[in-house]
Amino acid sequence: AFDISNLRDQTGYVTLDRGYKNTGATKSAITFLDGEQGILQYRGYSIEDLAAKASFLEVAYLLIYGELPTQEQFATFETSIRRHTLVNEDMRKIFDGFPVNAHPMGVLSSLVSAMSAFYPDLEGSKEDTTDQHIIRLLAKMPTIATWSYKRGLGHPMNYPKNNLDYIPNFLNMMFSLPVEDYKVDPVVAEALNVLLILHADHEQNCSTSTVRLVGSSQANIYSSISAGISALWGPLHGGANQEVIEMLEDIKADGGDVSKYVDMAKNAKTTGFRLFGFGHRVYKNFDPRARIIKKAADDVLSKLGVNDPVLEIAKGLEEAALHDDYFVSRKLYPNVDFYSGIIYRALGIPTNMFTVMFAIGRLPGWIAQWKEMREQKEPIGRPRQIYTGATLREFVPIEKR
Ligand code: ACO
Repeated sequence: AFDISNLRDQTGYVTLDRGYKNTGATKSAITFLDGEQGILQYRGYSIEDLAAKASFLEVAYLLIYGELPTQEQFATFETSIRRHTLVNEDMRKIFDGFPVNAHPMGVLSSLVSAMSAFYPDLEGSKEDTTDQHIIRLLAKMPTIATWSYKRGLGHPMNYPKNNLDYIPNFLNMMFSLPVEDYKVDPVVAEALNVLLILHADHEQNCSTSTVRLVGSSQANIYSSISAGISALWGPLHGGANQEVIEMLEDIKADGGDVSKYVDMAKNAKTTGFRLFGFGHRVYKNFDPRARIIKKAADDVLSKLGVNDPVLEIAKGLEEAALHDDYFVSRKLYPNVDFYSGIIYRALGIPTNMFTVMFAIGRLPGWIAQWKEMREQKEPIGRPRQIYTGATLREFVPIEKR
């Protein structure tokens, strides 16, 4: 029986919903998600349509400003982003202080937070600078992201080339060498475009709720998004894409027997092992993004002529899990992270950069949600609790303890 006394604190009754499984924190007009039917829409446009027809920057504009841009609006938006891709050289001094093998997500969240020191709002200024901060974030985050990768290889950094579009510019910074310019492969650029769109927003997930919560104290946009990046890094959230590929590699090294891993995951309570890339808080049918990504993985690998045995292991694992009662009864299906790593790998992006790619994709969503929260003048977020500690006690001086 439901024991209501558990919900009582000293002052009255409190709604207790650990993990916010059924608690709404806001009203939002950005993303519609129906987890039972597997529907995802940004501002009313289906994810399938956007992934097939739009560019990532168009989707970013749509999420942030509410409508698809006209050609003129898009040209202004894109040109502003092109003009802001350079990062202040003094940020490099901070970057150079990180250990060479620092995880790129730790570096990214620190440097995005540091942007608040480089681009503060002047005290007392009444000017609304939000749009400038938005442009800076969209323009500079891909540049910062490539630094970790280049340094890990011992290569010199590449400056952005602003005659290139957003995604080719990123690929150029990642893969060009002083001795050899990277030639952008349209298959690679298109695959990345689709992946970034699929990750661009997902209503009140853990990192987005973090961005909104931090922003609700009226903290600046850089600090709020830096907090979102930290939340995304966790293996139960965006960090799952790195965990998935490492798990698939382990299965391969272990002889490729997927059933052994399905069995281990069925006993998650005792083994502590979960199938990464499976299950979702909201999707209880299937994740529509996973469906698009699975097909994209097949297409991209065959177009690039990549034969990755890990793709076969992933398909085998999905098949085994979808026929297993444990997974069926709990409605555990592959999520967006299950196949994304296989594509990133085929594009030449290393495993420790997978969650960074997710962050670049999610950035417009975080910005849109932060902006909406501020425009709706939402109150500071402050959950309640049920206190379970000691009742009033008398202080004992340290000599008597
Ligand atoms: N493998 C094995 N069992 C699982 C898994 C899994 N991947 N996911 C959930 N379960 C089981 C739980 O043990 C629990 O079993 P029980 O009913 O016997 O207690 C049941 O399914 C429900 O799981 P919860 O953890 O209560 O579900 P919740 O909604 O809190 O968690 C989450 C969702 C975090 C995504 C979870 O499914 C998980 O840990 N998945 C693996 C990590 C992952 O892929 N994360 C990426 C999510 S997508 C994204 O962030 C972009």
